[in-house]
Amino acid sequence: MRLIDDTELHRSSVVANNAMNRERGLDGVNSYARDLGFHPLDRLRPRLAEHGAASWLDLCCGQGRALAQAAAQQLDGLTLTGVDLVGHFDPAATAAPDLTLVTASLGEWQPDRAFDLITCVHGLHYVGDKLGTLARVLTWPAPDGFFAAHLDLGSIRLLDGTPAVQPLRRLLRAAGLAYDGRRRLLTCTGPRELDLPFAYAGADDQAGPNYTGQPAVDSYYRPLRTGTRPEPAPPPRRAVTVDDAGVHITHDASTFDIEWDIVQYVTLSRLVVDVADVDCVELTVDFVFGDHATVQEDAEGFAEAVAEFARRWGRPAPDLSALAPDEDVEIWRCP
Ligand SMILES: C[S@@+](CC[C@H](N)C(=O)[O-])C[C@H]1O[C@@H](n2cnc3c(N)ncnc32)[C@H](O)[C@@H]1O
Repeated sequence: MRLIDDTELHRSSVVANNAMNRERGLDGVNSYARDLGFHPLDRLRPRLAEHGAASWLDLCCGQGRALAQAAAQQLDGLTLTGVDLVGHFDPAATAAPDLTLVTASLGEWQPDRAFDLITCVHGLHYVGDKLGTLARVLTWPAPDGFFAAHLDLGSIRLLDGTPAVQPLRRLLRAAGLAYDGRRRLLTCTGPRELDLPFAYAGADDQAGPNYTGQPAVDSYYRPLRTGTRPEPAPPPRRAVTVDDAGVHITHDASTFDIEWDIVQYVTLSRLVVDVADVDCVELTVDFVFGDHATVQEDAEGFAEAVAEFARRWGRPAPDLSALAPDEDVEIWRCP
């Protein structure tokens, strides 16, 4: 596998792909409302009503059709900005007042203001340094501004090829970001400081189609061990139990009670990251509203909880020692 830099990436047929869907509108079948799971104007109207002004920045805006349709609603005080590497914008977008279109790479463009809404709809799939770009972009929301971007965690890999899905989920959550695994949507309210222990190494434009069905770009990172971290604190007490009420996850003095009616499915996975000396089994409880909770095998009651999920699902409990690396094994699903 050959890793390429941004200059080569931006010339790659995967990024300059005519067949790419760059035409999503605001709502309807091929739209932002459908793929984001919320209507962008629903996020902006309350702000407009309260402050008389609101701003929307759409990164990787494609033809800018969603922005043009927002502009067509002529909402007083609404400021719209679209940024895309390719300057092939819809004529309705270029003609719209209060809509600024910028032809630039996300890796280089820098705004001079904060925004009430920042979206990036299926754009990061084509960006080389996805994590570095996210770290910059996440400083741009206004204090109560909303950020939403599609991110395929499986396209972010460590240099040995290992997908960084599980450590990233954890690190992103620790940084105050929510990740909806079904929509592959990263969201937060307000700016965030994202300081992840990964150094960008390059992009693979030959990774093949991602979950959208279109060829996409995998991004490769080198794990950083700076040695500057403080001595690790003693690990907190963790425990998990499963009973008729649901799943109970204890972290030190607090217990998180997850009732059965919000559990969508439960999976086991073995996370192996050779370069970071990680090899552990994890239980992930995915909720019906898109969030999730994870427990690692060193939690008290882990094996018993796995056996109880399997019993309730009417299947034999999997052999934890025989799990293949990075394979997800479902052990319970909402009937
Ligand atoms: C799949 S399209 C989505 C466009 C639009 N958001 C939509 O849903 O209709 C991805 C867009 O990302 C843009 N893009 C790719 N790499 C970029 C980069 N480094 N900086 C800015 N835009 C980029 C492409 O030019 C393309 O328009």
